[in-house]
Amino acid sequence: MSSEMNPRTPKIETKLPAVGTTIFTVMSALATEHNAVNLGQGFPDFNCDPALVQAVTDAMQQGLNQYPPMPGIPALREAVATKIKALHAREYSAATEITITAGATQGIITAILAVVRPGDEVIVLEPCYDSYVPNIELAGGTVVRVPLTPHTFRPDFDKIAAAITPKTRAILVNSPHNPSATIWSRGDMLQLQDLLAPTEILLISDEVYEHMVFDGRQHESAARYPGLAARAFIVSSFGKTYHVTGWKVGTVVAPTPLMAEFRKVHQFNVFTVNTPVQHGLARYMADPTPYLELPAFYQRKRDLFRAGLAATKFKLLPSEGSYFQCVDISDVSDLSEADFCQWLTKEIGVAAIPLSAFYGDGFDQRVVRFCFAKKDETLQAALARLAKL
Ligand SMILES: Cc1ncc(COP(=O)(O)O)c(C=O)c1O
Repeated sequence: MSSEMNPRTPKIETKLPAVGTTIFTVMSALATEHNAVNLGQGFPDFNCDPALVQAVTDAMQQGLNQYPPMPGIPALREAVATKIKALHAREYSAATEITITAGATQGIITAILAVVRPGDEVIVLEPCYDSYVPNIELAGGTVVRVPLTPHTFRPDFDKIAAAITPKTRAILVNSPHNPSATIWSRGDMLQLQDLLAPTEILLISDEVYEHMVFDGRQHESAARYPGLAARAFIVSSFGKTYHVTGWKVGTVVAPTPLMAEFRKVHQFNVFTVNTPVQHGLARYMADPTPYLELPAFYQRKRDLFRAGLAATKFKLLPSEGSYFQCVDISDVSDLSEADFCQWLTKEIGVAAIPLSAFYGDGFDQRVVRFCFAKKDETLQAALARLAKL
């Protein structure tokens, strides 16, 4: 038989044997199937500011549709530098220390690929965002999981210190935190700074929820701490800040020698990012009001949602930042977190995410996560259903 008659796809060995369909996809599909209110996946169900859409549209109509410079258009990098200086009193060079990325996700994997070599260890604090572990594995690194304290989700610096070895290349920190909605305090950041000071360990600081901090708290960016900023890739997301998660545009800032390595990888894994969106964002960022008003915008939604949940048997955990609210389910059900989320979606008609999905070993502490980045009517529809519990 000729080879044309017998086409054959070569067998490949997976590089990521533990990766399957994510819990977010599973729960969103289940929510659609059962017509449930989807408070599972973390994205807004409302539109962004029409002025932002107009700014991008204008850029397209002005013909700004070809490749931009590799690290991003200068105007957007300048706008990011101005913002960081205003908020955190640190100067980053738009020329050599700021790169526009295809969302925070590409920023994180690019930072990891730039610095992690086979045999290096990278510390992640569990529960953690689902891309970190496969990113480290793709770089050939070894994942070292350190748990945040169950239920309070505070960092345990003794445990982190004990996990450090001569092979530790980097630590990933995320504040405000997905999924727990906790934020790191100044004291936490100072402890991290002291811990890392005598080491060569790099920090990858995932700060995508930087503008969602509540009750008058301050977002403690790594940029505020000289000892951390000097060793940090700081990752942000325009998608989160401006309600445009589908645009997938973010930023990474880092000191020049780190950013030089970052850009070597960025140049060949994405090269550069959507031109008109960058121009639109640069123009829109001239006014800081939208991100300055974001804490109040989400705090009101958080309070609306928490007030409704107070009438249920859920025990509410604090929500200090991000757009998530975690609840303890132990007074409502004996089911595991994962089974409870399935049941809640099918029987009550509200989708949530089990925290066990954010742990490598599926650790179950009877806590599930809701996303409140939703229209008030969506939250009210969910609360009306949850009132049965
Ligand atoms: C902690 C965390 N990091 C990164 C991301 C990804 O952000 P982006 O959509 O900008 O890639 C998310 C999105 O959910 C997140 O929760």
